[in-house]
Amino acid sequence: MSGPAALRLERLSKSYVVRGREAQALAEVSASVAPGQLVAVVGPNGAGKTTALRIIATLVRPSSGRAIVLGRDVAREQSAVRRLIGVSLGTGRSFYMRLTAQHNLSFFARLKGICSSRIALEIPRLAAELDIERFLPRPTRSLSRGALARLSVARACLGEPRLLVLDEPFASVDEHARELLWNALERRARSGRSVVLATHDLSIAARCDLVVELGGGRAGMPGGKRAGE
Ligand SMILES: Nc1ncnc2c1ncn2[C@@H]1O[C@H](COP(=O)(O)OP(=O)(O)OP(=O)(O)O)[C@@H](O)[C@H]1O
Ligand SMILES: [Mg+2]
Repeated sequence: MSGPAALRLERLSKSYVVRGREAQALAEVSASVAPGQLVAVVGPNGAGKTTALRIIATLVRPSSGRAIVLGRDVAREQSAVRRLIGVSLGTGRSFYMRLTAQHNLSFFARLKGICSSRIALEIPRLAAELDIERFLPRPTRSLSRGALARLSVARACLGEPRLLVLDEPFASVDEHARELLWNALERRARSGRSVVLATHDLSIAARCDLVVELGGGRAGMPGGKRAGE
C-alpha cells in the first residue's frame, strides 16, 4: 500500500468512570483501513461502535491506544483530522431545526471552509444523489427521521472528505434511500475515499470490504472480510 492508511486503530480503548467504577466502553481495538475501503463496525448494543466513531471524529479522547487518520493522530492533531473527515453521528439536534435543510447544508459547508461557488454546485449535486431535493426548502424540524438521516449523510459528504465516519446511516431509511445511500458510499470508495460506518444491518456489513466486530458479540456475519483476517 502506498501512502498512509486512511485510518489506523492501534489498541484503541476508552473507559468511563460510572458511579465510582471504571467501565470499559471500548477495549483494545486494532484495525487498518486502506484508501478506497468501505468498513462496517458491528457489534451488539453497547459494544462501543459509537464510542469508536466519536474518537475517530475527535469528539472523545481515547483512554489508551491511538487512532490515526491519514497519518494524523486524532487526539493530538484534532483540527487537521477534522479537515480530512466528514461525520454523521446521529441526526437528532445536530441541525438548526428552525432553518431549512438548504440553509443547514450551506451553513455547515461554510463552516468547513468551502467557498460559495463550490457550495452552489455541491448542494444540488448531493441533493440529487441522495434524492433529498424536495426537502431542501423545508424547515429541518419538519423532516422525517429517514429524511434527516439522508440530510446528515449529505452534510458529511460536503467537500468530499477522504474519510467518512457514519454512525448507523441506514438505520431509518427506506429501501429506495438505502440503495441510493449505498451507491453514494460506493462511488466515493471507488474514487479512493474511505467509509467507516457502524451498523446493525448485517446485509450492509456483508457488502463492505472489511468488518470490524466489537464487544465480542456473535454478529454472525453472512460475508465480508473481518479485520485481522
Ligand atoms: N459518556 C459516557 N459515560 C459513561 N458511559 C458511556 C458514555 N458513553 C458511552 N458509554 C458506555 O459505553 C458503552 C459503549 O457505548 P456505545 O454507545 O459506544 O455503544 P454502541 O455499540 O454504539 O451501542 P448501540 O448499538 O446501542 O448504538 C456502553 O456501555 C455505554 O453505556
Ligand atoms: Mg451506537
